[in-house]
Amino acid sequence: MRFLFKDISEVYTPLQRIGEAAMAVEEGIIRWIGAADDLPETYRNWPGISLGNRGILPGLIDCHTHLVWGGNRLDEYTRRARGESYEEILEAGGGIYNTVMATRAASEDQLFSLALERAHHFLQEGVTTLEVKSGYGLEPEAELKMLRVVKRLDQHFRQRFFPTLLAHVVPREWDRVDYLRMFCNELIPTVARENLATAVDVFCDRGAFSIAETRKIFEAALDSGLAIKAHAEQLTHSGATRLVAEMKGLSADHLEQTTADDWRALALHGTVGTILPGATVILRKAFPDLGAMRDAGVALAVATDHNPGSSHLYSLMLCLQLASALGGLSVEEALASGTATAGRALGRPELGNLKVASPADFVVVDGPDALSPFYHWGKNCIKQVYVGGDLAWRVG
Ligand code: NIG
Ligand code: FE
Repeated sequence: MRFLFKDISEVYTPLQRIGEAAMAVEEGIIRWIGAADDLPETYRNWPGISLGNRGILPGLIDCHTHLVWGGNRLDEYTRRARGESYEEILEAGGGIYNTVMATRAASEDQLFSLALERAHHFLQEGVTTLEVKSGYGLEPEAELKMLRVVKRLDQHFRQRFFPTLLAHVVPREWDRVDYLRMFCNELIPTVARENLATAVDVFCDRGAFSIAETRKIFEAALDSGLAIKAHAEQLTHSGATRLVAEMKGLSADHLEQTTADDWRALALHGTVGTILPGATVILRKAFPDLGAMRDAGVALAVATDHNPGSSHLYSLMLCLQLASALGGLSVEEALASGTATAGRALGRPELGNLKVASPADFVVVDGPDALSPFYHWGKNCIKQVYVGGDLAWRVG
């Protein structure tokens, strides 16, 4: 299957802007992209698809989500809005443990249909790739159930899904040492053998895993051939950012409590720093200084952290807008944070880029200005979404 996408008013690749562009796609892969006037003879006769003089952007990549969950925590949200803290609620056995009970109680089919509905919402806002974590099962069988849901999403829905095994908290009914041993010696090897995840993530913070425990889990993950990443420096400064960078991890995520030393470690080792504006704003934490991090050489990604407790939001575009308005990124930098750099954070640098040999995952906006979705807060400016060259969603 060969197509020539034409009548593109402008495209951000995202690192380069091309006006009056065309893009040749074969078997879902970009063969050529550039100014329409420079289109080589070979592609001129390919079946054409007019994009109606509209702008296009790479499909957005949400590189940190907890899309699979049961129940909801509206009650905790209203209590927090009255002044109770997220940490107090977690320490009292609510918070994550609340969602664990509801997720364990839900069947695989129920979790699948809940997650599918959420994925569909993300698709309509231009998200073509999502990372999805486990972590609300805790028990091995419930963790595997969550990861199977992600696998089913990948097989049956139009987006690309990257499942991650998350060491979230120690279940209350387990001894810590036993749980860690089971996680490292049984769960990680099983997940790797059954191809149920591409990475292992650890929530390294007060009330979750210590830095020594995190190191053990990372070692087990690397031994099983899985990539590593961390929920790092969210509530307290644990040192997980430096650990994951030194162990050549994909990304350190959250980063509200990071210091200049942490940024240097990320920059030195090429580990992506992923900012989660939903959690920062909803938990009323201070917004990280993204300008200073970028100046320190950190590659910055931005993700939703979609989850029922700290970031119950459904819009990656809103997170990119917040990263720009509150964190100090330019609009073009925010775009790269939700596309090319997010692809790097998944260990898939070909994703999130409209360039030769990359998959043709892109969104068509509803007018000639490709960046207009960044300007129109609260309005979905996406008209069509393509994944691998196929139309995955369109307005109406
Ligand atoms: O990324 N910080 C830890 N985990 C999730 C929140 C989980 C929850 O509250 O359900 C996060 O913010
Ligand atoms: Fe998270």
